Amino acid sequence: MILRLAALILSLITTFSLSVENLAEALSPDGFLTLVNREYTLSRDYEPDDLVYPDVKHSGSAYQMRAEAAAALEELFAAAREEAGFTLYAHSGYRSYETQRNIYERKIKTTRDLRQARLLVADPGASEHQLGLAMDVKNRPDGLLNAAFGKSPEGIWLAENAWSFGFIIRYKAEWTDVTTYAYEPWHVRYVGQKHAAILQEADIPLEQYVETLRALAADACAEGD
Ligand code: DAL
Ligand code: ZN
Repeated sequence: MILRLAALILSLITTFSLSVENLAEALSPDGFLTLVNREYTLSRDYEPDDLVYPDVKHSGSAYQMRAEAAAALEELFAAAREEAGFTLYAHSGYRSYETQRNIYERKIKTTRDLRQARLLVADPGASEHQLGLAMDVKNRPDGLLNAAFGKSPEGIWLAENAWSFGFIIRYKAEWTDVTTYAYEPWHVRYVGQKHAAILQEADIPLEQYVETLRALAADACAEGD
C-alpha cells in the first residue's frame, strides 16, 4: 500500500513537472506544504510576515491570509460566484497563538468535555490557522460551521473545485484518526495548485502526502550522493 502510494505520488509529481528542489522548498518552514498538527507545532511567536486581507466578502474581521493564499482565495470566491452563482464568506483566517489559546480554552468550557473539544479545536501551536494558510468558509454571513455545510450546494461546490485554486479540504470525516480533528467541510488549506491537484487525485490527508514526499526527497538526495 505504502509503495503503491509512493508510486502514485511519484507519477503525479512527474506529471506536474515538480522537481526535488520544488519539493524541498514547499516542505520548508515558510513553504506552502508546511505540516502543522499536534505532532508538528508552531512556536508561540510564529507569525507569517506577508499577511493581507483578501478582497472578498467576509463574515468576521479576522480573515487575513498570506499574500499568495489570499490572492487564490479571491479567485476561488470569484469562480464560485461566476460559475455557480454562490456567494462565499471568509470567516476565520490567520490566528495568533494567543487567539488560538482563547478559542481552545473557550471550547473546553462550553463542551465541558476535553476529548470532544480537542476533536473540534486545535491546541495553541497546533492550528494551521497560525500559518495564515487556512480559511473557514461560510455560505451565509450568519451561517454555522458544522457538518451540514458539507451537504449544502456551496459546500459541495467547494469540495469539488477548491483544488483548482490551490486549496484542499483539510479535515475529511474518514481522516480523523490521522488528523486528530473532526470533519470540517468549511476549513480550506492553501497548498498551491499543483499539490492541491495531486492531493485531490490521491485523496489522502496532508500528513500522508508530506510523509511520502519527505521519503521521496530523502531517496532522491541519497541517490545524488
Ligand atoms: N478547527 C481546527 C482544527 C483548528 O482549530 O485549527
Ligand atoms: Zn479552520
